Order: sequence, then structure tokens, then C-alpha cells
Amino acid sequence: MPLLEGSVGVEDLVLLEPLEEESLLRNLQLRYEHKEIYTYIGNVVISVNPYQQLPIYGPEFIAKYQDYTFYELKPHIYALANVAYQSLRDRDRDQCILITGESGAGKTEASKLVMSYVAAVCGKGEQVNSVKEQLLQSNPVLEAFGNAKTIRNNNSSRFGKYMDIEFDFKGSPLGGVITNYLLEKSRVVRQLQGERNFHIFYQLLAGADAQLLEALKLQRDTSGYTYLNQEASRVGGMDDASNFSAVRSAMTVIGFSEEEIRQVLEVTALVLKLGNVELTDEFQANGIPASGIRDGRGVREIGEMVSLDSAALERALCSRTMETSREKVTTALNVTQAQYARDALAKNIYSRLFNWIVNRINESIKVGSGERKKVMGVLDIYGFEILEDNSFEQFVINYCNEKLQQVFIEMTLKEEQEEYKREGIPWVKVDYFDNGIICNLIEHNQRGILAMLDEECLRPGVVSDSTFLAKLNQLFCNHSHYESKVTQNAQHQYDRSMGLGCFRICHYAGKVTYNVNSFIDKNNDLLFRDLSQTMWKARHPLLRSLFPEGDPKQASLKRPPTAGAQFKSSVAILMKNLYSKNPNYIRCIKPNEHQQRGRFSSELVATQARYLGLMENVRVRRAGYAHRQVYAHFLERYRLLSQSTWPHWNGGAREGVEKVLGELNLSPQELAYGKTKIFIRSPKTLFYLEEQRRLRLQQLATLIQKTYRGWRCRTHYQLMRKSQILISSWFRGNMQKKRYEKLKASTLLIQAFVRGWKARKNYRKYFRSGASLTLANFIYRSMTQKFLLGLKRNLPSTKVLDSWWPPAPYRYFQPANQQLHQLFHQWKCKKFRDQLSPKQVEMLREKLCASELFKDNKASYAQSVPIPFRGDYIGLQGNPKLQKLRGREEGPILMAETVRKVNRGNGKTSSRILLLTKGHLILTDTKQSQAKIVIGLDSVAAVSVTSLRDGLFGLHLSQTSPVGSKGDLLLVSNHVIELLTKLYLAVLNATRSQLPVTVTENFSVRFKESSVAVKVTQGPGDGENNKLSFKKKGGNCLEVTVQ
Ligand SMILES: Nc1ncnc2c1ncn2[C@@H]1O[C@H](COP(=O)(O)OP(=O)(O)O)[C@@H](O)[C@H]1O
Ligand SMILES: [Mg+2]
Repeated sequence: MPLLEGSVGVEDLVLLEPLEEESLLRNLQLRYEHKEIYTYIGNVVISVNPYQQLPIYGPEFIAKYQDYTFYELKPHIYALANVAYQSLRDRDRDQCILITGESGAGKTEASKLVMSYVAAVCGKGEQVNSVKEQLLQSNPVLEAFGNAKTIRNNNSSRFGKYMDIEFDFKGSPLGGVITNYLLEKSRVVRQLQGERNFHIFYQLLAGADAQLLEALKLQRDTSGYTYLNQEASRVGGMDDASNFSAVRSAMTVIGFSEEEIRQVLEVTALVLKLGNVELTDEFQANGIPASGIRDGRGVREIGEMVSLDSAALERALCSRTMETSREKVTTALNVTQAQYARDALAKNIYSRLFNWIVNRINESIKVGSGERKKVMGVLDIYGFEILEDNSFEQFVINYCNEKLQQVFIEMTLKEEQEEYKREGIPWVKVDYFDNGIICNLIEHNQRGILAMLDEECLRPGVVSDSTFLAKLNQLFCNHSHYESKVTQNAQHQYDRSMGLGCFRICHYAGKVTYNVNSFIDKNNDLLFRDLSQTMWKARHPLLRSLFPEGDPKQASLKRPPTAGAQFKSSVAILMKNLYSKNPNYIRCIKPNEHQQRGRFSSELVATQARYLGLMENVRVRRAGYAHRQVYAHFLERYRLLSQSTWPHWNGGAREGVEKVLGELNLSPQELAYGKTKIFIRSPKTLFYLEEQRRLRLQQLATLIQKTYRGWRCRTHYQLMRKSQILISSWFRGNMQKKRYEKLKASTLLIQAFVRGWKARKNYRKYFRSGASLTLANFIYRSMTQKFLLGLKRNLPSTKVLDSWWPPAPYRYFQPANQQLHQLFHQWKCKKFRDQLSPKQVEMLREKLCASELFKDNKASYAQSVPIPFRGDYIGLQGNPKLQKLRGREEGPILMAETVRKVNRGNGKTSSRILLLTKGHLILTDTKQSQAKIVIGLDSVAAVSVTSLRDGLFGLHLSQTSPVGSKGDLLLVSNHVIELLTKLYLAVLNATRSQLPVTVTENFSVRFKESSVAVKVTQGPGDGENNKLSFKKKGGNCLEVTVQ
């Protein structure tokens, strides 16, 4: 019953009816003919090589298989890869993918499909992509150096490869580690008929440009190379040249530097050249055969290319130094030995180069040790091989396959059945062939074939392949899986196919006859020390690094482990590694021996199906259960399907599982409850569970989302509300606080102002501004005080005439000082005046009057000032004669003087005595004692006087008076100032009117009816002598000159 509609045959052999080998083969064939190359046995994928490109790969298919579970789509390697990857990513289980099958069955292709699937579905990103690229690009490089055309497979892997791809917790690739197993290096020097050497040699010659070829001193034609020209050189459908460029770019992607690539190619070229070194017979002097190099050119070229002394290489190729701890012996090699040495060198160089390349790739893709990793291992190891002539290589290859079969048996057939028993599930045992006995035959530590081989290699004495065979025959004569001519003979069997030097092992996959020839040699894998030392001396960094044991300092006489032992231990490590992981199987089947599409050889497939144990596998699978899980884990995964176990379950795990499954109404045949595990028979049930879980998860997710959203909205709302309240309370608080602060500040301000105002009022006196005023006042006062005291101490003299007054010490005091000065002066004058007698007062009054009249008007005034007015200049007191002249005039004589009267007619002068009384002016002759002229003061009308220093004056009389009618008088007095002053005062006293006194140089005097103009001029003298000269000019003019 097909799982899916439209499927061809059955997609899962578990469902095959009837279950027989024939129907199984028919089913496979049917499917194969319909280009359905993949078929399941449970979770094992059987892949039948289609030998044609089928349209079932690529991104579209990858995407499809990514989205569906294992059984939902057609069987595919992608489905298996998907299960493995998801289990690694989601369940944190390290995975390994075991790909087994004969050579050419499609293992390598399958491994590439797995890797490309994983690369496509795992994480994305720049870093991840570069890691993926590096991992994927390691394939073409390893294939170029490690694959070759064989008769079974044009691209046969000649090495075993196990690749660990490492992922981080998210399932993104971090890097990886590649382990390689035993390269078939014998291919470097010899190939079977129709086979080729490793691809890289052909690729290099076909793909290198002329320049590179020249640099490597190579020629393009493969026929020129001994290692290449023995057999086929071309493979149909393989483009060596374009592959070469793909390899080079892949190396660059992985991280090889240009220099490293160059060195790798140089070493590759070196191997080719080494094959062309031709050796010839030579004989030593003692007749012992030796060898030599026919044409030294090849060796020289090698020497030049890798900076090696070509003579040393020649020596190393043709001779051998035996070294013991005590001595060194050099022996010549004959041609065969030398050829052997040459080929051994070539093989060694190549296999070491291959190892170096693997290590170099590992260096690029390795992951830092600190990271926690999940690992997916992909094992693509050489398939089981049965050749015409099987040698050591086939022996180890088949041993390895035997071990892998053991893993399969252990993990699928044995373990599963044992588990049912352990768990107490009713079980009818399915028989299967356990190949443990064969593994033991080969690998047993003491009695295994490999142990024997090692023993033989190490044994002293004559050792050969035949001694080794003899030993095996002796040891395994009764072993059911061992045969040889000797054992057959012993059992009287006749077998023509068995050679003398052969032994046969009945492997799980068939009987293989091995030829023991060169087993010892290949196991020893010895390279003469001379050669490794010579290689070490090369100045080519890569070549040199391939031969570390050539370093004399490192040289040790200890034997390196044999090839067999090495292989065994690496297989052991591999097994340990595989057992630690969850296995996923891809079992590859070769449909025909001719690499032809569409051809299905039932016989060939039947053999493979048989030794692969497909039938047993199906049987176990059918009787068994597709899925099992510890109760606790199962419950953890599916408890959400039941209301009673979700969300909390307090009972035991088993009860919980029963509860969950009981509620789902599954058919009782589908389930089995073991002691610790629940078993589910068909995948369908599991899918059903998964689907239920998926639906429930969706429900739960919605519930969680709903609850979460509600919660989030609620908390968000509450938070907002709380925030809003908080904000408004803060805001209000803040506003009030601000208001209060403002109020407080204003109150304080007002208070401060008031207090300040009050305080200022009280303390104004203490203020500085008041202080300055006070200080200024004080200073001012003290200055005034000082000034006045100084004035007191320094009072000027009280003399009236002394007008000295101390100057004001500051300008500020100037007005006051001036005022004081004035006051002082007035006081002084008053004081002075007060002490004067009335006479002196009178005299001063007169002086004052004189000053009023003449100051600044008459030149002689200044002279007159200090001279006191005497009044009497003629001795009137003592002269009674003169007394008489006064007549009746009472009162004192104000002035008595001798004056000269100028004759107005001629200008002559005559002396007269002049007396002035209070009422009169009396002129009299000096000799006469009788008054000649008496003029009442009221008749004096005016006086004219000059401004000069003379004593001349005109006395103008009023015309109405009797005296006046005679005309005016022109007189000269020596005391004209005194006289005129007294006259003025007398007139004032007498008439109460002011006498006009005119100061002029030109005046006229009346003379009877006419008048005479008097013109006074200053003569040459200064008028000191007071001399006047009169000159009459005409009738009316009198010129007076003051001398
Ligand atoms: N899935 C496949 N589709 C198309 N061709 C395949 C497939 N698997 C294998 N082949 C063909 O078979 C050849 C041998 O396959 P390969 O994987 O190299 O075998 P193995 O590694 O088992 O020796 C490949 O070169 C290829 O031509
Ligand atoms: Mg392969």
C-alpha cells in the first residue's frame, strides 16, 4: 500500500507484501525503471545509482523537502538530510550520515547531496556563506588529488573521507574537520588496465597555461610521462582542463595563497618528473650490480625546481645508507631497487602532499575551540572492492567496510532487537548475520591478520610475504571465514581460482581473494632515509615540510607505525566517533557493472541487497516499531495534547503518556509500552501525533499571544495611568511649589525692602554716604578752622596803607578771604578814622574831595596826595597885617597862599595873596594890606584847570556878580589842588551847590566883553619846575607852555 498516491511500487520496503527477496528486488527494479532511485527501509535510504542526471535536485526540491516531514514526500536523500539536520538543530543531537556501498554505487554523489542540502537550509549571512563555500569547495580539491578513474567508476574516491561539519546552537555552520583515510598511493606509479592516475596530473597538463607549464618545466602531452602513459589518459565526459581551473579557484576560495598553490603544483610536477627519471644498470668495480641515471636532465630539472642538489638526489636514488646506532654503511642499489626507491619516493611525496592539502583545508575551515558545537559527520569512504587481483589496499578498504557494516548491524539490527527485549516488548527474534567474527579475524589485537602482518614486519630474520601467508594459514586453518590453498588442501577442496600466494576472506559482502604479494612492503611503507633526508634538504618550503623526519636532528632509529596499524587505529577512532552520534544511513547500490543508465542487473543488486542485509533490516523494521522514546521525553513533547497533562502533570511519566495516548484513540497495535520507553509502530501514527502537536501548538501560541497581548495592553494602560497620575501630581505639586516660592520670594523681597528701609532710616548716619558728608563737613570745618586760625596767627598789620593780606590756602576760600580782607580793611580804616582828630578828619575830607576831583584827571594830583593841606602858606597867624585882609569876614581862613595872577592882556604874571574864607575869596596885592578883589563864593561859577602838572587855573565868575563883570581870573597857584579843593568845599558849604571843575587844556576866560582862549601845552620839560611861559597870540588867544 503506497503511502502517497501515484507512487511506483512501495516507497518504504517495510510495507512490502509479500516480503521476499524477489519481491524486494522487483520493487527496487520497478522503481529504478521509473527513475525512482530512492527507497526507504524505515529511516534508511536505499539509493540505486541512476548513472544519469535526474531532475530531482536543486533549490526547488531542497525547499520542498525542508517544509515536509520524512514520509510526506517521495523518498530522497534530502529528506534524510533534513531529518538529520533538524534533529541536530532542534534536539541537539550530533548526527552522522553513513554512506556505504560498493565502489561506484554513488556514495560520493550522495555525500555531496547531503552537504549541498545542509548548506542550503542552514543559516544565512556573509560569514556563514563563506564557511559554506569553503566546506563545499573542499570537494573539488580533494577529488582532484584523491579521485581517479577506475574501471568501476570514472570518479572513484581513492581515499576515505569523513567530514565533521560543525554548527553553532542556531544551526549555522561554523566550519569543519576533514579526516582522510589511506590514500591509494600505489596508483601514482601504476594503474590497472583502463584506469587512470589521480585526476590532478591530467588536469595540470591539460589546464595549465603555457606559462605555467614552462615554469614547471612540463609538456602538455601526457604520453611523455611514465606515470601517466601506461593506461588510459582520457575519461569520457570529463573536461580536465576546465576542472583544473575549478580546482584552482576552489583552492583560492578555501584560502590557499597563490604561493601555496604554486608550491602544490610544483610538488605535483615533481612527482611526474620523478617518474621520468630512468635508471640503468651499472656495475661497480667489484662486479656488484649498481644503478645510474640515464639522462641527468630530469634530475637536474627537479633540482632546479625545488632548489635541490641534483647530485644528492641522484645519490639518494641509486644508493642506500644503512645506519645503525654505531655505524653507517652505504650500499649501491641495483636497477630494480633503485626503481623501487624512486617509485616509493614518488608515492610518498604524493600521499604526503595529499595529507598536507587536507590539513591545509582543515586549517581554513577549523572552528575556534571555545565554541560549543553540534556536529554532523558525513562519511564517504571507499566502497567494498573485489578486483581481479586484490592487494593490501583492497584488504584495508574491505576491512573498513566490514567495520561500517558492523556499525550498521550494531545500531540497527542488534541494538534494536536487544532493546525490545530489554523493554519487555514481546519480540520474535529476527536472525541476521553478525560480522563481528570477520572484524575480529582482521583486527584482533593478538591474533588478527593485521597483528600478524605487523609481527611479520617487525620480526628479525628472513621475512617475506610467503612467510606471512604461512603464518596466517597456520593460525586460521580452522577459521570459518578464512581460506587459502593450504586450508583448502587440508579440507581436500579443489579450487582453481585460489592462487598459491593468496588467502581468501569471506567478507560480509562476499569472498575476496587477496594476493599476499607486497603486503609486507606496503605495510612497512618504508622510505629510505637517504631519500627523506634529501627531500628535507630541498629549499622548497612545502616539499621540505613534507619530510620532517629528514631533519638529521629529528632522525630517530625507531620505526614509524606500520600502515596497517595506523589504519586500524584511525578506523577505531572513526568508529568511536560514529557510535557517539545518531546514525543516518544511505545505502548505495550499483545497478550494473558498466556504469550504464537504465540497466538493472538483478543478480548484482541481489548480491548487494544480501550483503547489505536489506531483508533483515526490513524484517526488524517491520516487526519492530518505527519510533521509540523515553516516557519522560515523550510526555514532555506531547503532553500538551491532553487536558489532563497540560499544563501541569503531577503523576509519573508513563501514566502521563498513557493518559495522552489514551485520549487520542489510537489503535492498540500501534503502541507498545516498554519498561522505560513508549514504542510507536508506524510512522503514520507519529506523524499524526506531530500534526496534532503542531495544531495544538498553534492554538497555544494563539492563547499565549492573546494572554500576552491582553497582559501587555493592561500593563501598558496601567503604566500609562500611573504615569499620568504621577505626572499630574508632580505637575500640580510643582506648580504650587513654584507659586509658593514666588510668593515667598516676593514677601521676602518686600520684607527686606521694609526692613532695609527701616534700618537705613535708623542707621543712615552710619552710612557711608552720610559719613562722607560728615567727613567733608568736618574736613571743611577743620579747613576753615585752620584757615581762620592761620589768619589769626598771621594777621596782617593794622596799618591802613599796608594792604597785604594772606592768600587763601584753598581756592575755595577765595571769596571769603576777599571778603574778610575787605572787612578787615574797612575795619582798619574805621579804626584809623576813629583815632583821627576832627582836624585831621577835616583835612582828610578835603583830601578825599581832592581825590574825587582830580584823581586821574590832573598829573600833579599824585604828588599832592602825601602832602598834607596846610592851608596857610604865608604865615597868616603871626602876621596881623595879613589878618586884616580878612576884613569883616568871620571864621577861619581856609586857605592863605601867594598866587600869581596872569594878565589876560599880555600874559604877564603878578603875585597876589589869596585868602579863602567860608564866604569869600580874597585876592590882594602882596604889598598892600588892603584887599584888592573880594569875590563872594556865590559868584564863583566854575573853575577850569589843566590836566598837566601846572598850577594854572581859570576862575570863572558869574557875570551877574559885581566882581564878575570885570571878567574871569586866570591864576597860578603852587598848591592848586588844595586850593581848588578847598574852594569847592567852601562853595558847597556856602551855596549848597557843586562847583563845576573842568579839567581841560583849552578853555576861555572872559575878559570884559570878550573872551580870551587859553591854550595850554606841555613844553619840553616835565613840568617839574612848574614854570609857565605865557605868550599872547593875537587879541584873544593866550598860549601857555608848561616847562
Ligand atoms: N544521484 C546520482 N545521479 C546521477 N549520477 C550519479 C548519482 N550517483 C552516482 N552517480 C554516477 O555514478 C558515478 C559514481 O558515483 P560515486 O559517488 O563517485 O561513487 P562512489 O563514491 O560510491 O564510488 C558518478 O560519477 C556519477 O556519474
Ligand atoms: Mg566515492
